[in-house]
Amino acid sequence: MLHKKDLLGIRDLEVSEMMSIIELAKDMKPIVLGSGSRLDLLKNKSIITLFYENSTRTRLAFTMAGMYLGANVVDLGIATSSVQKGETLADTGITLDRMGIEYMIIRHSMSGAAHLLAKNVNASVINAGDGANEHPTQALLDLYTIYEKKGSFKGLHVTIVGDIAHSRVARSDIFGLVKLGAHVTLAGPGTLTAKSMEMLGCEVTTDMKAAVKNADVVMALRIQLERQKGGLFPNTREYSQLYGLNEETFAYASKDAILMHPAPVNRGVELMPELIDSCVSVIDEQVTNGVAVRMAILSLLSERRTRI
Ligand code: CP
Repeated sequence: MLHKKDLLGIRDLEVSEMMSIIELAKDMKPIVLGSGSRLDLLKNKSIITLFYENSTRTRLAFTMAGMYLGANVVDLGIATSSVQKGETLADTGITLDRMGIEYMIIRHSMSGAAHLLAKNVNASVINAGDGANEHPTQALLDLYTIYEKKGSFKGLHVTIVGDIAHSRVARSDIFGLVKLGAHVTLAGPGTLTAKSMEMLGCEVTTDMKAAVKNADVVMALRIQLERQKGGLFPNTREYSQLYGLNEETFAYASKDAILMHPAPVNRGVELMPELIDSCVSVIDEQVTNGVAVRMAILSLLSERRTRI
């Protein structure tokens, strides 16, 4: 059960809400895999995707999730919309609201954009990534994948490696994992990690091997050059030598550790190809789970909309 009209961040979610999404995603997964029948929970409902930043996985996962639930799904092509004439986000949202759209999925470069939209519309708003703030549905699919592979979160050692400073995925994952009882370590160069993040309840280190040692889950993050102002590390070759995950570093993790990445991956920069394509990687399963999780979120928001 979800308590609010919108899903804007993991910071706002209770453990029971996260677990109800994960449990329902388990039931939805056979539909994504083609072994279950599509549903009509969202029949006659309309979903719009508003992506002010590029996306493959998140936008299409929401599109497929809506279709599997029987909804009408449309995309507001930002590049050809009245956004280009200077229309504000609030005015765009109010316009879509008046057309009877009930679910708005937004990705935006500005932290807080999803919150601003949610305040202005009756539709349920789902944050598909806002600046460096949060990417809650990515975290929920990560949590579901970890739960599926490990069976519980309590005491699990999760190491997140890479460009933590610019990562909305890292922030959402940290909020979720800490609430669920996992032990989280962040690792990367000092310019891309901040000791102050320990306030979120995790450890921060620049020592890759120490961070990966005995980890149950190792998650690599993409170097987000589009959010960096430059000069945070000498060059990508040096970054990959020092902080790129390879078989040698991964060998420090626990025997049955899994490798995750939200993707898209910069092959050969934060992750070496031999690891991406190895049996420890669950990156492809994360994509499938991403559709199941978005189906669960849409279903639970729909249930909440009919309750009030
Ligand atoms: N992981 C993720 O958000 O991927 P996209 O940018 O392709 O949506």
